[in-house]
Amino acid sequence: MIDSANIKTIETACTLLKEGNIVALPTETVYGLAADATNESAVQRIFQIKGRPTFNPLIVHVLTIEQTANIGEIPPSAMPLLEQFWPGPLTIVVPLKENHPLAPSVTAGLKTIALRMPAHPVFQEVLRAYGKPLAAPSANASNTLSCTRAEHVSKSLGNKIPLIIEGNVCDHGLESTIVDFSTSTPTILRHGALSAEELGILTHTSNQDKIKAPGQLKRHYAPSIPLRLNVKTPRGGEAFLNFGTSHPQETLNLSPASDLKEAAQNLFQMLHQLDDPHQFTAIAVSPIPHEGIGVAINDRLNRGAQILEKDLP
Ligand code: TXA
Ligand code: MG
Repeated sequence: MIDSANIKTIETACTLLKEGNIVALPTETVYGLAADATNESAVQRIFQIKGRPTFNPLIVHVLTIEQTANIGEIPPSAMPLLEQFWPGPLTIVVPLKENHPLAPSVTAGLKTIALRMPAHPVFQEVLRAYGKPLAAPSANASNTLSCTRAEHVSKSLGNKIPLIIEGNVCDHGLESTIVDFSTSTPTILRHGALSAEELGILTHTSNQDKIKAPGQLKRHYAPSIPLRLNVKTPRGGEAFLNFGTSHPQETLNLSPASDLKEAAQNLFQMLHQLDDPHQFTAIAVSPIPHEGIGVAINDRLNRGAQILEKDLP
């Protein structure tokens, strides 16, 4: 059920969370599927509902830095970035504290924890009212398109979750950038809403590093019809998702002004809109400049275009 954000729906969300239920909440990046991070059966429910492999750990969302005190060991070197970007679309991976209160499934057996302080007022209100950290992956069935509107969540998971709180369109439209602070050199594990240049961090892990970025493998963020990338002229039957100067065959344009931030905000919304097997054979996407936030856009598009081994002839 989709409900608009008000005091009553926030109360309902808290009651559901207390009972070990899951609620979908807007964040400034994409919608999240939230559960009490200390409740093991609630956290397991997230994995079931998304069809997410249990080896893929979750991000823990907090309202204040104090809430991280018994969870993660934040190194002093991370503080300048946190001061600048928290609350906001930055997730940090830090060593997990020994006597942490988190449900075991949150970390999927790793000795590190991913922490994020979201900036969206609705998510913050729920954190404030509930008083405990919330584990929240993106609110979409595993490997499918992320959701930037309540109705996307409803389409992807609606019958499995009791409450989706509606917020305005997610500002950034791409997931948070994940930076690993558990080793001596801070490293980007997932490109996201904050570019490497904005963060001043230029090292990143390769896609093949299974241990470092367990959720960053193979196919992800995929629509139900094929994605074809770097297309200048679409084929008959394809939807054409253009970027920049208008094209006679464009179906939608990520940003007519060639603004990469605007393109990021529109990306999942437009892919959801074009993901219609009755109308199109595939989604053809125009080349996206590989700079700034374009790196994160291309990361999502490349993963969305991967073919699963099981689908190969
Ligand atoms: O913007 C976001 O980050 C959204 C909103 C809802 O906050 N959340 C999100 O969660 O994107 P999810 O579960 O879709 O992606 C979390 C990523 C996964 O790739 C997971 O493998 C990685 O974070 N992750 C979680 N804990 C980790 C850890 N300890 N070490 C390395 N990667 C970790
Ligand atoms: Mg996700």
